[in-house]
Amino acid sequence: MDILHNLRENLPADLPDWPLKRALARFSRDHHGDFDKWSNALENLPDLLNREVDLHDAVSVEGDVDTQKLTDALKLFHPWRKGPFSIAEVLIDTEWRSDFKWQRLENALGDLSGQRILDIGCGNGYFGWRMLGRGAREVVGIDPTLLFCMQHLAIEKYVQKPGNWVLPLGIEEIPNTTQFDWVLSMGVIYHRRDPQAHIEQLAALTRSGGHSIVESIVVEGSESLIPPGRYARMRNVWCVPSIDDLCKWLQRAGFTDVRVLDVSVTTMEEQRSTQWMSFDSLIDTLDPQNPQRTIEGHPAPVRAIVVGEKP
Ligand SMILES: C[S@@+](CC[C@H](N)C(=O)[O-])C[C@H]1O[C@@H](n2cnc3c(N)ncnc32)[C@H](O)[C@@H]1O
Repeated sequence: MDILHNLRENLPADLPDWPLKRALARFSRDHHGDFDKWSNALENLPDLLNREVDLHDAVSVEGDVDTQKLTDALKLFHPWRKGPFSIAEVLIDTEWRSDFKWQRLENALGDLSGQRILDIGCGNGYFGWRMLGRGAREVVGIDPTLLFCMQHLAIEKYVQKPGNWVLPLGIEEIPNTTQFDWVLSMGVIYHRRDPQAHIEQLAALTRSGGHSIVESIVVEGSESLIPPGRYARMRNVWCVPSIDDLCKWLQRAGFTDVRVLDVSVTTMEEQRSTQWMSFDSLIDTLDPQNPQRTIEGHPAPVRAIVVGEKP
C-alpha cells in the first residue's frame, strides 16, 4: 500500500504557486534517514473497527483495535510533542498539553464554520483537528519537520476526516498568492530572524476582514530580549518579544484591533517528559535554584496570544 496515495490524491485545492510537488517529494528516505522506519510504522498501524470520533472536546477516536499493536507502531514516531491524542485504549500523552493552549485560544476563534485556515509551524496538526471540530472548512498546516508530518498521517488514519493537512514546508517557501480567513503563527516567531517581516507575511496571507494570531514566548516589560546564546537550551531563539513589541509589529504590518488574548506562565503540568516524549523538557531548562529563571539566567517562559484584524 502506498501511504501517500491519499495525500497525493487529496491535496488542498486553490493554492496557486505553492510548491506542493516539492512537499510530496520530501516524504522520502532521501529527505530523512528515518523515513523508512516511519513509513513501515504507518503500514503496521492496525485497523480500527466501530470508529467514533470526537474533535470538539478532545482529539479522540473510540473503537476496537489491537491495543498492543497500535501502541508499538505509534511509539516508533517518538518523540510526540503536541497532543494529547486518544485512540481507543491508547492515550498518546505528549510532551505538551496542547489542549491547555487550545482552551486559551478557542474563544477568540469562535465558530469557524466554513473558514479556511493556515497554521504555520503546525507541528503534527493537533490544532487543525480541534479547528475542524469547530466547523473549519479546511486547515492547511505547514511544518518542515518530517516526523510531525508522519505523526499527522498516523492520526489521520484513525480520524478519517478530510480537511486537515500537514505539509513539510517552511514559511519561507510559501508564496503570498492565497489569502486565508485565519492565519496562525504559534511558537514560531522567536525562531525567525526578522520578526517584523514574519508578521508582514502573515498580513499578506490574511484576507481583508480576516484575522491573524501570533502566539509566542514573551518577556515582561517593554524591552524585547535578544538572547546572546541559548534561551531555555534552545539554540535558534533570536528574539523573545515584549508584549508591547509584539503588538507594535502587528500594528506596523497593518493589523487593526490588535488585542492580547492571554498571557500564561508555562507550567510543568503543561510541558513535561512522558513515556511518549522521554527527552528533557521544561524542568531541565530552568535554574534548579530559581525556577523563575532559565538555566541561562533569562526569565522563565511566559507565553502570550495576540490577535489582529486585517482591514
Ligand atoms: C514551538 S513549535 C510550535 C508548534 C505548534 N504551532 C504549537 O503552538 O504548539 C514550532 C514549530 O515550528 C516548526 N518550524 C520550524 N521552522 C519553521 C519554518 N521555517 N516554517 C514553519 N514552521 C517551522 C517546527 O518544526 C515546530 O513544529
